[in-house]
Amino acid sequence: MTTTADTAGLVGAGADRVDGPSKVTGAAQYPADFGLENLAHAVLVQSTVAAGRIRRLATERAEAAPGVLAVITHRNAPRLARAQGGLGLGPPPPLQDDRVVHHGQHIAVVVAQTLEQAAAAARLVQADYEAAEPLLDLDDPRAERVENASGRDVSRGDVAAGLTAAEVVVAATYTTPVQTNNPLGLFASIAYWDGDLLTVHDSTQGPVFTRAALAAAFGLPETAVRVLAPFVGGAFGAGLRTWPHVVLAALAARVAGRPVKLVLSRAQMFTSVGYRPPTVQHLKVGARRTGELVAIDHEGIEPTALEDDFAESLTRGTAVLYDCPNLSGRTRQVRLNVACPTWMRGPGEAPGVFALECALDELASELGIDPVELRLRNYAEIHPQTSRPWSSKALRACYEQGAERFGWTRRTPEPRSMRHGRFLVGYGMASAYYGYVQAPCQATASLGLDGVAVVRSAATDIGPGTYTVMTQVAASTLGLPMERIRFELGDTTMPPAPLQGGSGLTAALGSAVHAACRRLLQAFVELAADNPQSPLHGCSVQDVTAADGRISVVHAASPAPAETYTAILARHGLAELSADGASARRTDLDAEPGIFAAKFAEVQVDPDLGLIRVTRFVAAVDGGRILNAKTAASQIIGGTVGGIGMALLEETVSDPGTGRIANATFGDYLVAVNADVPDIDVIFVGEPDPINPIGVKGIGEVAIVGVAPAIANAVFHATGRRIRSLPITAERLL
Ligand code: MOS
Repeated sequence: MTTTADTAGLVGAGADRVDGPSKVTGAAQYPADFGLENLAHAVLVQSTVAAGRIRRLATERAEAAPGVLAVITHRNAPRLARAQGGLGLGPPPPLQDDRVVHHGQHIAVVVAQTLEQAAAAARLVQADYEAAEPLLDLDDPRAERVENASGRDVSRGDVAAGLTAAEVVVAATYTTPVQTNNPLGLFASIAYWDGDLLTVHDSTQGPVFTRAALAAAFGLPETAVRVLAPFVGGAFGAGLRTWPHVVLAALAARVAGRPVKLVLSRAQMFTSVGYRPPTVQHLKVGARRTGELVAIDHEGIEPTALEDDFAESLTRGTAVLYDCPNLSGRTRQVRLNVACPTWMRGPGEAPGVFALECALDELASELGIDPVELRLRNYAEIHPQTSRPWSSKALRACYEQGAERFGWTRRTPEPRSMRHGRFLVGYGMASAYYGYVQAPCQATASLGLDGVAVVRSAATDIGPGTYTVMTQVAASTLGLPMERIRFELGDTTMPPAPLQGGSGLTAALGSAVHAACRRLLQAFVELAADNPQSPLHGCSVQDVTAADGRISVVHAASPAPAETYTAILARHGLAELSADGASARRTDLDAEPGIFAAKFAEVQVDPDLGLIRVTRFVAAVDGGRILNAKTAASQIIGGTVGGIGMALLEETVSDPGTGRIANATFGDYLVAVNADVPDIDVIFVGEPDPINPIGVKGIGEVAIVGVAPAIANAVFHATGRRIRSLPITAERLL
């Protein structure tokens, strides 16, 4: 990994993960790791049909099995309410009636003394169904269709007239399969009650949101619920909602009158916590012979659940990536008997930009224009939909520096024209965009006589390095070495933080941590300023700088008057000072935020066997200020690995007749592993974004966007074969 020179303070030091030692020694406690006295275990029973009613549910044998404490079904489960207030809170509550709406729906939960007893008893629960003919096909005429459920359909100009006027039109249909988030950590919940107080350890990307969902389900005030998630073993979006199993863990603990642990099996991870919905996308791209885009029509279709409302837009990237006067972007959801899909890394854009960027490549090929040149000719200098300026945009530099690093000029345009020994070599590229979200956030900071600052917020770190980056922000704002910052997160007793999602947490939480630390510094300065004995007497926070635990006056004689934090506390007889900070996206800026990248892939294809290897990859990313060169590059590398999986391997297959998932194991659902991944070269370009005081955008999702089309376009260049359906397997290629 290399980064561009840090001339403008764009790229911060590559600090090691502060939580690394606790993770490698096993000290870090993930949700399933919390050991509690008297802990009972819950195992889920899932429906084996996709639609209908439970006619009979025989639980007697399970109830009589050794160690069993409770068997909870729709017949004996307490009534639960659904949280109002948005998709983030979760699906309708489980076990409320006898209806089945998808294969793998939870129909019972068995609680026993040990995990083995619960698992054995769960197998004794017998369900008979009055099965109905399930809706499983996007084309099923019986299925309800929902237009623009995300509210993000977009149109401008006159797309039909534009397509008619165009000199060249590329029209093609692209498809992507179900992909399952599959974080390494199995999702787990441990729940216990103390009277009417509920505590839950959970694999969540937003403890505050899980608290709201649980409080609503059980009719409790939020103050009666505490959710903890100091460590989460990955999520990729699966932890953005409070899924039924979390509610069931709490329910089981209440019914059993004991703490209960519920850990999903790998197979249950395919049915219980969402997945990226499959897509069918129809693209029509019209242009002049010079390559100037005239019209883009992009229609996406994907399933959603029968009784839940997940909806994403497949055309958000299409709407903004190019300066094209006539455009229509529409996404339609079709209600089927499927488990509810959810956000998965780069939701909407990852599949949507795949279709768009493959179509652009088809256009480039048709026109005989270099793919990078085609994109530069249609560069959107301002936001093409709102005509407002970008808060910052360095996509041009992404194209230029990415192409330079990759050696794009070595590409000979003709497909099948490049070889390495007996392998066909292909170069492909794609643009990437992600509409990151910076939500309001709060943090608190305090500093005591030990000289350590404790900074807290109820956020999560599902892997990107939030502990580390927030430690850096606090350290640099307070002028303390990183070892003297203790950053804590993942507990709803802390100030509220948004979801770690939508690529927005670093912007939101970093700004809140910055604000809290800034106000803490100010509190110290004000305390000292009032005191004639202090070297800082009469100073305000603008007059000082902080380094090595010492606040000094700027522009003063040498040596500058200075005083340490701890000396100020000691003189005033105080144990500590603390301050709160809050952040929100700037609203006074007349500009559109957006994060951009350009991705370049080299593939080698075995012409006889159709085997594809990604042999080189360059990602050039405009992410605003990069706070930690190392963790940020790791984010881009991780997203690229996910993109390689998306391009070549990942596909959740279900039986078209029953909806049963056929490959719900890591042996059958293939993700990219080390042997599939080449060296990935990451370049950060751009400038600090004025949208927040720390200048950051959010790079978590743009990391995967554009990877699959760059690879698909490289496969076309290598072989002359245009594969419009992911994953691009040897079977499809030959
Ligand atoms: Mo991301 S799919 O918002 O966790």
